[in-house]
Amino acid sequence: MKILVTGSRGQLGNELKRILSTGHAEIGPIPTEYATADVDFVDYHELDITDKAAVDERFQDNGYDLVINCAAATNVDGCEADEEAAFKVNALGAQNLAQVAADAGAKLVHVSTDYVFPGNEAGERVETDATAPISAYGRTKLAGEEAVCAANPKSFIVRTAWLYGYVGKNFVKTMKRLGETHQQVTVVDDQIGNPTSANDLAYEILKLALTDDYGIYHVTNNGICSWADFAKAIMDGFGLDCEVVPVTSAQYKQANPQSADRPKFSALRNKHLEEGIGDEMRTWQDAFAEYVRNFDTLAD
Ligand SMILES: NC(=O)c1ccc[n+]([C@@H]2O[C@H](COP(=O)([O-])OP(=O)(O)OC[C@H]3O[C@@H](n4cnc5c(N)ncnc54)[C@H](OP(=O)(O)O)[C@@H]3O)[C@@H](O)[C@H]2O)c1
Repeated sequence: MKILVTGSRGQLGNELKRILSTGHAEIGPIPTEYATADVDFVDYHELDITDKAAVDERFQDNGYDLVINCAAATNVDGCEADEEAAFKVNALGAQNLAQVAADAGAKLVHVSTDYVFPGNEAGERVETDATAPISAYGRTKLAGEEAVCAANPKSFIVRTAWLYGYVGKNFVKTMKRLGETHQQVTVVDDQIGNPTSANDLAYEILKLALTDDYGIYHVTNNGICSWADFAKAIMDGFGLDCEVVPVTSAQYKQANPQSADRPKFSALRNKHLEEGIGDEMRTWQDAFAEYVRNFDTLAD
């Protein structure tokens, strides 16, 4: 099996690299089919996915069976400030990969987000629920989903949420840093979601990619919480004496007027996984506890 992983220096890309090179994820061993896989890990500098000619050329030279697209513009406020630039990566870049993969008969795993939902309804969203993004990031990611589905029938759209890995920037590391230097931190408590380990997500992606059951999948750790709940778990997990002061989204927006709107209820339920290959994703608390245990050894 010949595999291309794009955006490989990001959080998810690094966990794919880790589990493909060791054969093990934190959930368990990865499928043995990957033991002999030949994997190219590329990021922006080796392959800019917005450059169609470069994408075509890489495929012609290599003949991939599977593409895992981890490349994206992920800075939610940055996307709000420059939606056109975000669209180029999140929609057109995804389309480039989907088209070339389709021409080659290759499968594509395209990673997307809970922010495709408006978040105005309590509870967990399933794959068939109506999308209606309220941010530039969400709009460009939804456009990417649609372009991928239109271009390549052998596509898996994997929506995840609140992702944290050992390598790269994320909420956990930001909170940890603030917790080490501040006595108090204010965090939004009226946005609900699923903190998700990039290592667990990488594992489910590899399992899914072996099937022919294409379509949209929600893949998050199980259980829901608010950002403030998650921040408290981070302070507790790292033994930091920092008080988490809850604020509303409205209060946060008033203090940060340039920030993008985020959905209030964007928690996902892994229904397609449950009904298909099975949902092995751990609870967010279990996954996060393991992350804390491994942090000093694995985090950059
Ligand atoms: N992070 C989250 O909380 C979250 C939540 C829901 C869904 N997701 C989705 O999950 C996926 C993986 O997220 P992540 O957190 O691993 O992202 P990440 O850490 O930001 O990594 C994305 C990678 O893509 C690269 N990239 C950007 N533009 C590119 C281009 N034109 N061509 C090639 N590579 C490019 C980035 O390079 P530079 O760093 O040099 O720009 C970076 O290495 C994304 O699809 C994201 O939308 C993430």
